[in-house]
Amino acid sequence: MKIAVMGYGTIGSGVVDVLRINKEKIAQRAGEPVEVKYILDLRDFPGDPMEDAIVHDYQIIVNDPEIGIVVETMGGVEPAYTFVKAMLEAGKQVATSNKNLVAAKGAELIRIAREHNVNFQFEASVGGGIPIIRPLNKCLTADEIEEITGILNGTTNYMLTKMAKEGADFDEVLKDAQAKGYAEKDPTADIEGHDPCRKIAILTSLVCGQQVDFEDIYCEGITKISATDFKYAQIMNRSIKLLASSRKTQGSYSCMVAPFMLSSEHPLCGVNDVFNGIFVHGNVLGDAMFYGSGAGKLPTASAVVADVVDMTKHKNTNIYIDWKPEKLTLVDYKDSVNSFFVRTSSDRAKVESVFGNVAYIDAGIDGEIGFTTDAMPEAQFEDKAAKITLINRIRLG
Ligand code: HSE
Repeated sequence: MKIAVMGYGTIGSGVVDVLRINKEKIAQRAGEPVEVKYILDLRDFPGDPMEDAIVHDYQIIVNDPEIGIVVETMGGVEPAYTFVKAMLEAGKQVATSNKNLVAAKGAELIRIAREHNVNFQFEASVGGGIPIIRPLNKCLTADEIEEITGILNGTTNYMLTKMAKEGADFDEVLKDAQAKGYAEKDPTADIEGHDPCRKIAILTSLVCGQQVDFEDIYCEGITKISATDFKYAQIMNRSIKLLASSRKTQGSYSCMVAPFMLSSEHPLCGVNDVFNGIFVHGNVLGDAMFYGSGAGKLPTASAVVADVVDMTKHKNTNIYIDWKPEKLTLVDYKDSVNSFFVRTSSDRAKVESVFGNVAYIDAGIDGEIGFTTDAMPEAQFEDKAAKITLINRIRLG
């Protein structure tokens, strides 16, 4: 099997590394050796062992009948979409790690692959090296999936874990995450929740079989979480995690990305550092948990190469993926019911006149009150919160 890799950055070079490190095992499992014939990149890589494989024009790959599989690790929607579409239309199979591409164009690329009797696979686009796409497509197919809740972003989980352990503030841990290479120079997609938002949109599309637009999902990042919030969390024996969740309700799904204060019993409470965890509840399965390396060069490349192996075993066979282009209308997040931890500078009389009886949390912070509410619809909470002077609020899980 001769393959091409489009994008020789962190993940693309990881794919080349994985194919070299586990060459024999991969050949044994795929049924034949897998060799990289081309690497598409804008740059040259003088002195790199793969220097001779570098090409700058994607048409060279499109027009080479020897290429059976193309790996896309460029990131972003364009030009990845144009290149991937051309590869599928030329009868080549495609594996991608690109969540932006999958979230925006997944349904269409799956259809094009089916029309050309090839495959478009994207295991690495969610959860890095953790298998979750194939389990949803192939293993949990007897179930109605009623809930998926995940810690789907390694960078923010690293930052929140560090804030919890060291009492550090947001800006400080962001600088540390950038210095360690976890957070990008522009960290917006991670810290504002855009990255896990695309990932939960992809997972929800797979379980409902329709297009879920990430733009429709309520999304809050971690930029408002402070060291003071963690002081309260410690008193409450809870951890603060950025969750991406999807729940079946009212004949559709209710999706949300937001920080939650998790009790120590919550299955995702102990998922720390750069790890990801994905909790799945099926109506006949009950609960399942997927845990592991959710980001990084080799873990992500491991999932891409697993797709390459799968597609090498399925030449001329389209593996059906149920993801139709018809858009699913999500349930309004304002209908979803949550209880909240609240910090306010209003006094107790005011708090009780608005929220009734609440449970106060004393973390010894001057000039403010902390309390938790009963469960109520988001819309109701927003109305009440507008009547007090709010410092912060975090949902409880
Ligand atoms: N920025 C992402 C993360 C990379 O930190 O999880 C993996 O998608």
